Amino acid sequence: MVTIRPFRWDDSATVSTIIVRCLREVNSRDYPAELIDRMCAHFTPARVEQLAGERQMFVAVDDGGVVGTVSRDGNKVFTMFIHPERIGTGVGRLLMRHIEGLAAAEGHDFMETGASITGHGFYQRLGYTDIRTSDTDFGLNYILRKPLHPR
Ligand SMILES: CC(C)(COP(=O)(O)OP(=O)(O)OC[C@H]1O[C@@H](n2cnc3c(N)ncnc32)[C@H](O)[C@@H]1OP(=O)(O)O)[C@@H](O)C(=O)NCCC(=O)NCCS
Repeated sequence: MVTIRPFRWDDSATVSTIIVRCLREVNSRDYPAELIDRMCAHFTPARVEQLAGERQMFVAVDDGGVVGTVSRDGNKVFTMFIHPERIGTGVGRLLMRHIEGLAAAEGHDFMETGASITGHGFYQRLGYTDIRTSDTDFGLNYILRKPLHPR
């Protein structure tokens, strides 16, 4: 069974490894090698720790350990990565449901994400719609939003 818990500092190496594996094994289909190399160099364990200090970061875990991660700043979604061997098993949906619930409980009426080309279809499947595109240091991103129902 997969559960979600807050990031702990001793997760940083594992989370960094998952992100780098995703970039090399999955996102590399949609982005040039030079960009993938730059992103991999960026997401070191130290950088993951820094991001976890700036945002609310979560990990999805099962018996074998961490299988995915996401972070949020209010109603904004960041760093959504699922272990390549667990992609397509519902972990991403579970993580999104978790942070959408937290944002809704804080009174936000929409969730916003900056999706990679690779993640775009996933967010659309979860009910997000395109707002605009954005050129970032890490290539093209789609900005999408989904209405929340504040509780
Ligand atoms: C994109 C990603 C986060 C999706 O997570 P996941 O755990 O594989 O997704 P889930 O299994 O929860 O899928 C939920 C639904 O979205 C669909 N889906 C998942 N990825 C999709 C994609 N790329 N395009 C279209 N639909 C997708 C699934 O089929 C499922 O649909 P269902 O309602 O029919 O069951 C994951 O594939 C990943 O980490 N990719 C590499 C890193 C990345 O691109 N991250 C996003 C950065 S913005």
